[in-house]
Amino acid sequence: MLPDGRFLAVWPSALRLQVDDEWTDWGPMLPLAETVGELRRALVVVAADAAAIATLTDNTCLAAAVGEMSWHRVSYGPNVGSQAWNFGISLAAPFRGQGMGAVAQRLLAEYLFAATAFDRVEASTDVTNVAEQRSLVKAGFHREGVLRGAQFRGSARHDLVLYAVLRGEINSSG
Ligand SMILES: CC(C)(COP(=O)(O)OP(=O)(O)OC[C@H]1O[C@@H](n2cnc3c(N)ncnc32)[C@H](O)[C@@H]1OP(=O)(O)O)[C@@H](O)C(=O)NCCC(=O)NCCS
Repeated sequence: MLPDGRFLAVWPSALRLQVDDEWTDWGPMLPLAETVGELRRALVVVAADAAAIATLTDNTCLAAAVGEMSWHRVSYGPNVGSQAWNFGISLAAPFRGQGMGAVAQRLLAEYLFAATAFDRVEASTDVTNVAEQRSLVKAGFHREGVLRGAQFRGSARHDLVLYAVLRGEINSSG
């Protein structure tokens, strides 16, 4: 059962949780990922109460964090109306399979729509990552197609499935 409380402590630094599975085995990270201004990181803080969330502004309280989300801009044309957000998520192993991923992804989409003018939020995951695909659907995302060989992870190329939600498909009460 998901505890009460909402997440989203935005973390501007290159903070990362420990890599511990096949889905987050990126190998050596390119400097690019740590320096692009638009890449902002957020800690997914599905905490039991608001006080716990507040303390997460202090690095010493990271034990309360259950995972990490990051998002970056993707462009489908030169104007503002053709920009979108794409995000990624990784929960620490003890917190998976309890519904937190779906809630966090829904909340992040709501946050991005509320905070910016972009009308599209997308996420992609490995074609074999059934848990993330199911989690995205629970969060209100729609499956759009397969991106062949799009990701290099664990020393191999992987096909991804692209999911997205549009502004008009989501509302804060859902
Ligand atoms: C992927 C991830 C974010 C999902 O969050 P989560 O809180 O664990 O998942 P949720 O509980 O929201 O939903 C998972 C759903 O997939 C289902 N599921 C899990 N593993 C499954 C599997 N192997 N086969 C089929 N369904 C599976 C669950 O039953 C659940 O569906 P249900 O609620 O209808 O029963 C999280 O597990 C995680 O961080 N995993 C490791 C990193 C990762 O894979 N990140 C995504 C990379 S793009």
